[in-house]
Amino acid sequence: MIYLKTPEEINQMREAATLVSRTLGEVARWIAPGVTTLKLDTIAREFMRDNGGRPACLGYEGFPATLCIEVNETVVHGFPSNYTLREGDIIGIDTVVEKDGFMGDSCYTFPVGEIDPKVMDLCKTTKESLYVGIEACRPGHRIGDIANAVQTYCERRGYSVVREMCGHGIGHSMHESPEVPNYGRRGTGPVIRNGMCICIEPMINMGSRNIVIERDGWTCRTKDRKPSAHYEHTLAIIDDHVEILTTFDYIQEVLQDKFI
Ligand code: MF3
Ligand code: CO
Repeated sequence: MIYLKTPEEINQMREAATLVSRTLGEVARWIAPGVTTLKLDTIAREFMRDNGGRPACLGYEGFPATLCIEVNETVVHGFPSNYTLREGDIIGIDTVVEKDGFMGDSCYTFPVGEIDPKVMDLCKTTKESLYVGIEACRPGHRIGDIANAVQTYCERRGYSVVREMCGHGIGHSMHESPEVPNYGRRGTGPVIRNGMCICIEPMINMGSRNIVIERDGWTCRTKDRKPSAHYEHTLAIIDDHVEILTTFDYIQEVLQDKFI
């Protein structure tokens, strides 16, 4: 069942999306070699609470933290830890905030200092594929059109698409119908309509698409331990067009010329 939102509800979704975007901007200030991922988690949790939000990942189906931490070969759902960031790492930060009963969900993969140009290209392509997916997201089109656009874009450039994890509808819950896969066939899946709110979140691997879930039951990494990148926006379909509710502008302000 896909819950269509009223314009008033989408206004509230916008508030939650703005707060999650600002949170990623705040976390971006702290990303540097020598910083632990637990420190980033604390920063994010306090920032959300100081701004009237609730860290929605914390306690979600037993998830133990505010941030999902995705260093190098981690695809999604890694835990913050006392791991210290190193020059050359990439770190995806994925998080959800609840504000006044609505969820905002976003993810950004950051370079730590100077990174291998090949890894940079993976990040750049993944981020571009998010926007290619957004471009394919139009009222009257289908979810499979988004999926196919992301897949085609990444595979043409020699990367592989993780299939076990998807984007999703969002609203009062962080995961609602429909699923929004990053691979599939054009013209398949639910029709995109006014009032839908969805998250598009390509998870793209440098090597094979295969993944492994660690014994903690959450941490998802590439089987071949090659790097993976992940970017995510929350979107609304309103007045016959797509509005990107989250923004990377706060991140861009911090990264300046490092922003890709
Ligand atoms: N964007 C992630 C997702 O949709 C957020 C997960 S939060 C967690 O799966 F608590 F489930 F980890
Ligand atoms: Co998500």
